[in-house]
Amino acid sequence: MHPMMNIAIRAARSAGSILLRYYERTDTLNITQKGMNDFVSEVDRSSEKAIIDILHGAYPNHAILAEESGKQEGNEYQWIIDPLDGTTNYLHGFPQFSISIALKHKGVLEQGLVYDPLRDEMFTASRGAGALLNDRRIRVSNRKSLDGALLGTGFPYKDQSNLDAYLNMFRALIKDTAGIRRPGSAALDLAYVAAGRLDGFWELGLAEWDFAAGALLVKEAGGTVSDIAGGRRFLDTGNIIAGGLRLHTAMSAAIRPHLTDRLQA
Ligand code: IPD
Ligand code: CA
Ligand code: CA
Repeated sequence: MHPMMNIAIRAARSAGSILLRYYERTDTLNITQKGMNDFVSEVDRSSEKAIIDILHGAYPNHAILAEESGKQEGNEYQWIIDPLDGTTNYLHGFPQFSISIALKHKGVLEQGLVYDPLRDEMFTASRGAGALLNDRRIRVSNRKSLDGALLGTGFPYKDQSNLDAYLNMFRALIKDTAGIRRPGSAALDLAYVAAGRLDGFWELGLAEWDFAAGALLVKEAGGTVSDIAGGRRFLDTGNIIAGGLRLHTAMSAAIRPHLTDRLQA
């Protein structure tokens, strides 16, 4: 295991124990609203602090991009952190949420980890070294067409400017697949694609901390990740399609007719 991944795992486990500790008493938490349908609690903040303390304890000069505390630049290594992905689920006691930590070096994703503390499932990927679930190697599914495929997605509930385009994509995909799930943690959805539990995934309007680790997991598990138009700009746009190569091609073809000018830009 890469030494930087070992530190990230330690940080994720520490954050995971904070999430589990508060999970039984979410009704006592201080919650504030950041934007429409966008909530943050003291748990998001303490989880993030625990992660940054451990990462900076080992690598004091590394840069950080973290959902709740923002950006610290000035180093060619940058950690990208979502301390609680699936806050809405968490605050409702709906048991599907995760911690996502990725590391970029000179802009290239090198390490990615998604941790589900409820199931104690640690998904990890190091560039060029494959992807693991706990100690077991994982691969994307080899489904070749939409027929029989199980897809994951996220609904546009915060920014609804692409809602009509999204619903058209949804309509196009649901009629040809075995089903579509909206579990509520994009990082974990991508980890499930990497593990072959979902055949593919798409979502519009994600932030880098939602998908950086998950995208590396999918790639290292043998899959493909692109922006919604099939290009390479997913890191900039946050509009994503992920899956095994053949399924990714099939999803892209079904989505393409519903791209608006804005989504193609
Ligand atoms: C959200 C989750 C959700 C996705 C949203 C994200 P948060 O992250 O990943 O599945 O649909 O787009 O913002 O706010 O719970 O960290
Ligand atoms: Ca998130
Ligand atoms: Ca979050």
